[in-house]
Amino acid sequence: MSGLTVARVALAGAADRASTPNMFAPVSTPAFMIREVAFFVIGVSAVIFVIVAGLAVFAFVRFRRRPGEPDVEPPQVYGSTRIELAWTVVPFLIVVVLFLVTTRYIWGIERRPQPAGAVEVTVVGHQWWWEIRYPKLGIVTANELHVPVSDGASPTPTFILLESADVIHSFWVPQLAGKVDLIPRQTNRVWMEPFAAGVYVGQCAEYCGLEHALMLLTVVVHPKAEFDRWVADQQAPARADPAARRGRELFVSLACISCHTIRGTPANGVFGPDLTHLMSRRTIAAGAAANTPKDLRAWLDNPSAMKRGALMPAMKLSGEDVDDLASYLATLQ
Ligand code: CUA
Repeated sequence: MSGLTVARVALAGAADRASTPNMFAPVSTPAFMIREVAFFVIGVSAVIFVIVAGLAVFAFVRFRRRPGEPDVEPPQVYGSTRIELAWTVVPFLIVVVLFLVTTRYIWGIERRPQPAGAVEVTVVGHQWWWEIRYPKLGIVTANELHVPVSDGASPTPTFILLESADVIHSFWVPQLAGKVDLIPRQTNRVWMEPFAAGVYVGQCAEYCGLEHALMLLTVVVHPKAEFDRWVADQQAPARADPAARRGRELFVSLACISCHTIRGTPANGVFGPDLTHLMSRRTIAAGAAANTPKDLRAWLDNPSAMKRGALMPAMKLSGEDVDDLASYLATLQ
């Protein structure tokens, strides 16, 4: 299977209620505003198109050469001040209107103050996955952003700080918010205020290297009580099955721990995704595969077979060791 097929299969399996990433089907305040301004620009462009195309068709029909007419060039007119003014001033005014309307919307989105009930998240782009931190809640996860539904009575928008660990990435979940880049040594900000629970798909939208296409992002929007349960589950220590002891011993004796964290074990690396609650996530490798025991085992055995540029090395383990390691990780609820 090609990488893209894998990604589509993973998303189809993973995001049960997922909709397509369609900016014309917004479910969140800034996305509604972006659709409004998009419709305005499309409307103005459509009127211009109809006028220009209409005049062109009119000219083709009205001034075409008729049978019997001589094949000579019609009279050419140069230097009409009135016509030149018209085609300079009118487009200039159109551009001014588009500029002012767009600026007003951008301003409205960017200047939204953060209300007291907002959820705070920091998203760090990595080649090629998303690190997701909730600093106030003490949660670190990856590739799957969980946020609460917001309602008019008690708004709970999510305010996100965007950073990068390496190169420029771009955060884009079209149904929830506009596209904002993650730039090294700079912090950008984006916010979303979803009104409907569901699973929304996004994708890194800035070419960031070999596996840019397999840098998928899922946003799960929960009803409030469900979100609180998710938070409590993520804050709890990892619940590993004691029967998977040999896999755990392998994990902490191998280089795994220098890149990954599993809270409650000596593993505290930060280069790769936090695995404390690995099995709570729908996909592995940023959407490259579904998070099933079979795919998890295949990933551990040889990551680059699933995602060619993956920075996680194949550890060259025996089949039995891979089995035990996979069994251990599959218990991290
Ligand atoms: Cu990250 Cu493209």
